[in-house]
Amino acid sequence: MENSNFYALDLYSGSGAVTLGMKNAGFIVKAAVDFDPKACETYRLNHPEVNLVESDIRDVHLSTFDDLKKNLDLLAVCAPCQPFSSRNRNKMSSDDRVALVLEACRFIEYLQPKFIVFENVPGLERNQVFAELEKFLIGQEYHVSRPEKLDAAELGVPQRRVRMILFAAKSAKLLESAANIQPQARKSVRDAIGDLPSAVERSNSLVDQMHFRRAHSALNLERLRHIPKNGGSRHSLPHHLVLDCHRGIPDHHYPDCYGRMHWEQPAPTLTTGCTDFTKGRYVHPEDDRAITLREAARLQTFPDEYQFAGNSGQIATQIGNAVPPTMMSVIAASIRSALTKGI
Ligand SMILES: C[S@@+](CC[C@H](N)C(=O)[O-])C[C@H]1O[C@@H](n2cnc3c(N)ncnc32)[C@H](O)[C@@H]1O
Repeated sequence: MENSNFYALDLYSGSGAVTLGMKNAGFIVKAAVDFDPKACETYRLNHPEVNLVESDIRDVHLSTFDDLKKNLDLLAVCAPCQPFSSRNRNKMSSDDRVALVLEACRFIEYLQPKFIVFENVPGLERNQVFAELEKFLIGQEYHVSRPEKLDAAELGVPQRRVRMILFAAKSAKLLESAANIQPQARKSVRDAIGDLPSAVERSNSLVDQMHFRRAHSALNLERLRHIPKNGGSRHSLPHHLVLDCHRGIPDHHYPDCYGRMHWEQPAPTLTTGCTDFTKGRYVHPEDDRAITLREAARLQTFPDEYQFAGNSGQIATQIGNAVPPTMMSVIAASIRSALTKGI
């Protein structure tokens, strides 16, 4: 009889976005590992049934997961991505976070999952760590896909977010079948946040404690009034409002700081600074303010009932670090469909 339960393990689970995506695709997530206390608090609030191991992954004893030995269908590995991003090229080999990708190897060797998905920023495939990973996987008798760039905007997420996805599977047919990921209808900023009420100042009486406008300085409010609605940029600022740090630099440097989102387009990539317009194009399409935490969470496809622990900065970090749950659920659905065929 076909076994319809598919078990998953989430390494570097953060706030649980990947877990949510896998659960939505029908996987039973048995366990997860992360060491960030606030992200783990968020994880427990939303996935109390999962065995979350709150620890530095390098200290985790594999025997903790004995029930998953040879019984693990999907292993998700979303190691910290900063060492590989184009903004950190000079840190690539010295940063010991690079080694965290390879930390997954001991889990793979011990648990022998049927399918593995690695998610990271494009750039990993150019790093020596990728060659080491591929060699290890082949040595463990895995078939390994070519690293593929996937844009979340093609997978039903109202945000451009290009990620490097690498698959490995015990069976070549399983790998081929799972890699056939179906594009989804595109979503815009309006689709995601257009129905939200106006954001007001923070107070205890707010119905949604994640939907409040940050206090901006009078000078910044004056700047925002000059940024054209719907996609405008700091290049429209009159000379006296241009920031000192932007004077005399080429136009293409920091083009997104103080920029507005566009209602009819996907949002730009949300980072951990996603509610701070000095860090990117994070101004509301028409209101003179940065997007709220609720808007950021929606643009990452977290449902409104998802609970976040921590202060505003910690929540923005969890949101910006996440793999959009919808992106993960589309990928995981493709893997589940391939596993269901029993190939
Ligand atoms: C890119 S985020 C993963 C996001 C997560 N998959 C999600 O979708 O929300 C990387 C995560 O790795 C965790 N991390 C970094 N170094 C770690 C370590 N040595 N041990 C365990 N977790 C670690 C961080 O706390 C962070 O949550």
